[in-house]
Amino acid sequence: MTRCQSTTKEAKTNRNLLDNASNLLTNLLSGSALGSMPTAEGAVTDLFGRPLFFSLYDWFIEHGSVYRLAFGPKSFVVVSDPIVARYILRENAFSYDKGVLADILEPIMGKGLIPADLDTWKQRRRVIAPGFHSLFLEAMVKVFTNCSERTISKIESLLDNDASKGEEIELDLEAEFSSLALDIIGLGVFNYDFGSVTKESPVIKAVYGTLFEAEHRSTFYIPYWNLPLARWIVPRQRKFYGDLKVINDCLDELIRNARETREETDVEKLQQRDYSSLKDASLLRFLVDMRGADVDDRQLRDDLMTMLIAGHETTAAVLTWAVFLLAQNPSKMRKAQLEVDSILGQGKATYESIKKLEYMRLIVVESLRLYPQPPLLIRRSLKSDKLPGGYNGDGNGYEIPAGTDLFISVYNLHRSPYFWDRPNEFEPERFLVQKDSDTEGWAGFDPERSPGALYPNEIISDFAFLPFGGGPRKCVGDQFALMESTVALALLLQKFDVELRGSPDAVELVTGATIHTKNGLWCKLRRRA
Ligand code: HEM
Repeated sequence: MTRCQSTTKEAKTNRNLLDNASNLLTNLLSGSALGSMPTAEGAVTDLFGRPLFFSLYDWFIEHGSVYRLAFGPKSFVVVSDPIVARYILRENAFSYDKGVLADILEPIMGKGLIPADLDTWKQRRRVIAPGFHSLFLEAMVKVFTNCSERTISKIESLLDNDASKGEEIELDLEAEFSSLALDIIGLGVFNYDFGSVTKESPVIKAVYGTLFEAEHRSTFYIPYWNLPLARWIVPRQRKFYGDLKVINDCLDELIRNARETREETDVEKLQQRDYSSLKDASLLRFLVDMRGADVDDRQLRDDLMTMLIAGHETTAAVLTWAVFLLAQNPSKMRKAQLEVDSILGQGKATYESIKKLEYMRLIVVESLRLYPQPPLLIRRSLKSDKLPGGYNGDGNGYEIPAGTDLFISVYNLHRSPYFWDRPNEFEPERFLVQKDSDTEGWAGFDPERSPGALYPNEIISDFAFLPFGGGPRKCVGDQFALMESTVALALLLQKFDVELRGSPDAVELVTGATIHTKNGLWCKLRRRA
C-alpha cells in the first residue's frame, strides 16, 4: 500500500517535471507565434534586486500593454490591459489554468479551489460560494468587531503600561494586522480561535511557517520542491511538511468535531439562513451541515486550508498599506476619523454602519488599487489561442501557443497612466468620479454595470480595477475581506491617531504572494483626544 502510494507520488512528481520541461520546449519552439509581440529581456538580477512587479511596470511603459518577457529560454506574456485581462479571466476563462501557481500551491492546498483541476473546482465552487451569503457576512461583522476590539485592547494596555506616561507607543502594525486577520479567518471559516493577538501556539507557528514556505516558493519559477527526496533531505522542506502536518491535524480535528456535533435544528436554521441564533456561524458548519454528505474529509480539509491561506495575508496586507497611505495623508486620515465619529460615535461597527462608512470603504479599495494582493495573476494557456487587441494600439492582438505562461499584472493595470488620473496618488475619492461615456477608449466607472455593489469592483471599472480577479475564478471571499478591512480600520481610527515612525521611504517592499514590508510597518500610536 505504502509502496503503491509512493510510486504514484513519484510518478506525479516526474510528470510535473516533464510537464514543465515540455512547456519550456513548447515556448521555445513556438517563439515564432509570439514573434510579433514586443519583447523585454529580463536578467536574472531582475528576479532578486527589487520586487519583480516594479520591473514589469517599467517594461509595460516601454513595450506596451501586452509584451513577452524572456528570461533566458523561459518566457512569459505580461498583460496590463483591461480588454485582454477580461478575455483571459472571463470570456475564455476555461482555456487557461493556474499554471505555475497551481504547481506551487498544490502541495499545500491539495484540491482546494485555487489549484484544483477543473472538475473538482466546478463542483466545490458550486458548494462553497453560496456559503458567503449576505446573511453569513452580516453574522461575520460581529466576529470582525470582536477580534478588532481584542487588538485595540492590546494596544490600550500597551499604552497603559508604557513608561512614558502612556502617551505614545511604537508598534509594528503589520504584525498586529497579521494576528488580527489570522484570528478572524480562523473563526469565520472554521470557528477556531487562534487567539494569536494575545498568544503564541504551535498551530500559529505552523501557519506562519507554511505561509513563509508558500511565499518562498512563489518567488521561484522552478519547482525545486518537486525534486525526488527533497522533502526528506532539505531541512526547510522537512520543517514545511512538519508544519503542514500540525495544521492538517488541527483541521481534521475541527472537521471531525463539526461532523459529530451536527444537529438538525442547526441545519434548519442554516436552510432558512437564520444565522442570528446559531452558536457557530462558520463556513465549516455550513459546508458540513448543508453539503457534508457528498464530500470526503480530505476535500473539506483542502477547502479550509485554501481559505486559511488565501484569506489571511491578503487582508493583513490591505490593512497595512491602508495605514501606510493614510499616515502620509493626515488630512485624509482626519476625514476618515470624522466619518467614523459621525457614524459610529464610540459604538461598535455593524453591517448597517458599513453601508454608511463610505469614505472608509473607498480607502480600503484605493489601498487595494495601489497595493493589489497579489500583484500578479498567473495563468497558463491550455490550448493555442488568440488574445484580443487591447486599448493601447495593440491592434489585432496576438496568437499564443498552448502552454504559454501569462502574468496579468494587476499592479500595472491599477497604476496605468492610460486609465487613472495621477495613478500613483492616494485618492480614495477617485472612485466617486464617473468618467464621461464619450471618453475615448476606456469608458470609466459605471455603477450601473453592478447595481447595489457596496464596493467598486471589476465590473464597474470594466476590468481596469481587478483587486479580486474576475470571471469564474474570482475570489469567493471578496466581500468578507472588504468588510473585515473596513471594520478593522474604522475601529482602529476610532481610538487612535497613527503616524509612521520614520520616513515612508524607509518602509521597504518585499513581495511573494502579497506585497509586504521588509521590516514591519512601525508606527507611533496615540489615544485620540
Ligand atoms: C481567489 C484576492 C481574501 C478565498 C482570489 C483571487 C484574488 C484574490 C485576486 C483570484 C486569483 C486568480 O484569479 O488567480 C484576495 C484579496 C483578499 C482576499 C485581495 C483580501 C483583501 C480572501 C478571503 C477568502 C479568500 C477572506 C476566504 C475566506 C479565495 C479563494 C479563491 C480566491 C477560495 C479561489 C477562487 C476560485 O478559484 O474559485 N483572491 N482574496 N480570499 N480567494 Fe481571495
